[in-house]
Amino acid sequence: MAEKLILTASATRTQRYEELLPQLKAVISSESDLIANLANAAAILKEGLGFFWIGFYRMMEGELVLGPFQGPLACTRIALDKGVCGACATQKRTIIVADVNQFPGHIACSSLSQSEIVVPLIADKEVKLVLDIDSEELDDFSEVDQLYLEQLMDLLLARHF
Ligand code: SME
Repeated sequence: MAEKLILTASATRTQRYEELLPQLKAVISSESDLIANLANAAAILKEGLGFFWIGFYRMMEGELVLGPFQGPLACTRIALDKGVCGACATQKRTIIVADVNQFPGHIACSSLSQSEIVVPLIADKEVKLVLDIDSEELDDFSEVDQLYLEQLMDLLLARHF
């Protein structure tokens, strides 16, 4: 397994995703444990992209439970009718929030978080987990992030579900 990420200095976000995804694929291909791979996925995204908080919540008995993440302390359980993560899990689609202060029911794990993207992993028509990324900048996520993060979730889907 690679021990060090290869990152091009001053890459655009698109270029950074393009270099991160093959490295993530290589890392998870040599490990069969889901939690280990989610942990490295969070680390790869954090090292490659920065952002304030990056992590996974797993669907467990009808609620979302905190999984591997990088960043400050986070809430451990999210009901499906709460927050951006809950909305993503119930609507079974990626949700981008340009300003979390304007999102009804947003769960503020930190007041520093300003914008957010949450991407589901769906297998057998069920949401198995979500990837949540929070930024300290307003309007920090676009269709570019959605495109590549959905590809990342497809890699995890193919490997584990
Ligand atoms: N903001 C999320 C909760 C998770 S934390 O931000 C890590 C939400 O509204 O679902």
